Amino acid sequence: MDNTHNCLLPPGYILRKAKPFDMWLIRLFIIRGRLDPSQLKWQQFWVVEHNGSLVAFGQLRNFEFAQELGSLFVLPAYRNQGLGTFIIQHLIAQSTQPLYLKCLEHQLEFFYAQRGFLPISYEKLPVSLKYKFRLSQLRKNLLKAFVLFMKYQAPI
Ligand SMILES: CC(C)(COP(=O)(O)OP(=O)(O)OC[C@H]1O[C@@H](n2cnc3c(N)ncnc32)[C@H](O)[C@@H]1OP(=O)(O)O)[C@@H](O)C(=O)NCCC(=O)NCCS
Repeated sequence: MDNTHNCLLPPGYILRKAKPFDMWLIRLFIIRGRLDPSQLKWQQFWVVEHNGSLVAFGQLRNFEFAQELGSLFVLPAYRNQGLGTFIIQHLIAQSTQPLYLKCLEHQLEFFYAQRGFLPISYEKLPVSLKYKFRLSQLRKNLLKAFVLFMKYQAPI
């Protein structure tokens, strides 16, 4: 598996911690993108700016003995330039606990796998995340929805 996506930000882009005033836009994109609306605390977010405008963001949610990489979003016009990968790498570097994510799109499984995340069963999740993801697991079992839990595995 190739986990070596050591990309840099393209020229003209900057990465910074989110500020309280970023949250209205972040919330808007999260609602529009139908992303998980839980734990939207500005202190947990990192954003990428281009010409003073917010164009991408992601966050680390905190749980007991675990963190979740979440709210990953790149504005459509800015996709496929490595911004999503850059934010993932940055969040991995910032994480201080075992890192997990929930993937709801089959097509994104490979995207995350190439960036170091391996599928993990619901049963093997830490208790704190099992609690958070219990409804997703129910959807998976009852409605056969695509729900995949993944854990970051640092390259050896
Ligand atoms: C997923 C997302 C964050 C990727 O951001 P990005 O900046 O375009 O990603 P990068 O440029 O770093 O990487 C692009 C790669 O991801 C792949 N990719 C991006 N979105 C994809 C999708 N929906 N399905 C399959 N592959 C996808 C591209 O094909 C490309 O593949 P390659 O590396 O083999 O060339 C972005 O498409 C997005 O914001 N999507 C909507 C929100 C979302 O789904 N968030 C994830 C929630 S789990």
